[in-house]
Amino acid sequence: MNGGIVEMAAAQYGTTAKWLHWLMVAVLIAQYSIGWLMPDIHGTMTPGSPMIWHLSIGVLVLALAIVRLSWRVTHPVAPDPSLPPYQRIASGVVHWLLYVLVLLTCLSGWLFASARGWKVLWLFWLPLPMLTPKNPVLLKQIDGIHQVCEWALLATIAAHVVAAVVHQLHFRDGIMRRMLPRSSAAR
Ligand code: HEM
Ligand code: HEM
Repeated sequence: MNGGIVEMAAAQYGTTAKWLHWLMVAVLIAQYSIGWLMPDIHGTMTPGSPMIWHLSIGVLVLALAIVRLSWRVTHPVAPDPSLPPYQRIASGVVHWLLYVLVLLTCLSGWLFASARGWKVLWLFWLPLPMLTPKNPVLLKQIDGIHQVCEWALLATIAAHVVAAVVHQLHFRDGIMRRMLPRSSAAR
């Protein structure tokens, strides 16, 4: 490729990229756990403590995704040279899809909370803007979108994790090491 991005790309993920990757894994585990364990939402109920945690951690996921995406764009990393072209394309598509789905899941949840008239407080403290004023019509229209995003994200994460395990156990090509600590001196 002639694009400057690939020419400037590092060969390995640096420490910051790895920290951001594993931090995202940790907050997503917390977010899915709270999402599934919190009580179902009915009628005009107000958000209880688990939901406030869900909204707070959700905003953290969104902030982390934006930081991570900015870092990825400004610190490009070349695909592993040992990968055949179809695997380079597949992994590139899955990685970008992961970013897009994390963003869509967060925005759909925030929109849903706003349409219900719930203020999103970050960590029970900082009020964030409503994406829309309370709107029962919109609420009906967007009902289910957050769930579709959650499941699409989970399915893509599963494909990504299966690929990582297959590389580790079947191809034994060191792809997993690219995201593990201390495998590079890069930033
Ligand atoms: C990637 C980040 C997120 C994940 C994985 C996630 C996951 C989930 C899960 C598993 C549920 C329970 C199942 C459901 O009813 O949909 C849920 C519900 C909900 N989430 Fe999230 N969520 C995320 C981000 C957010 C954000 C950022 C907000 C708002 C700021 C939010 C607001 C909500 C609301 C209001 C519900 C209740 C929806 C309903 O009852 O239909 N979520 N989320
Ligand atoms: C146990 C779970 C996970 C494992 C074992 C894992 C493993 C890996 C590995 C080995 C790479 C490097 C791939 C390469 O260089 O070709 C990678 C990259 C990546 N992973 Fe994961 N991953 C996991 C979970 C996640 C989750 C939950 C997300 C986000 C939703 C995610 C998003 C990404 C992205 C976007 C990249 C590309 C690198 C970047 O843009 O910073 N991973 N992962």
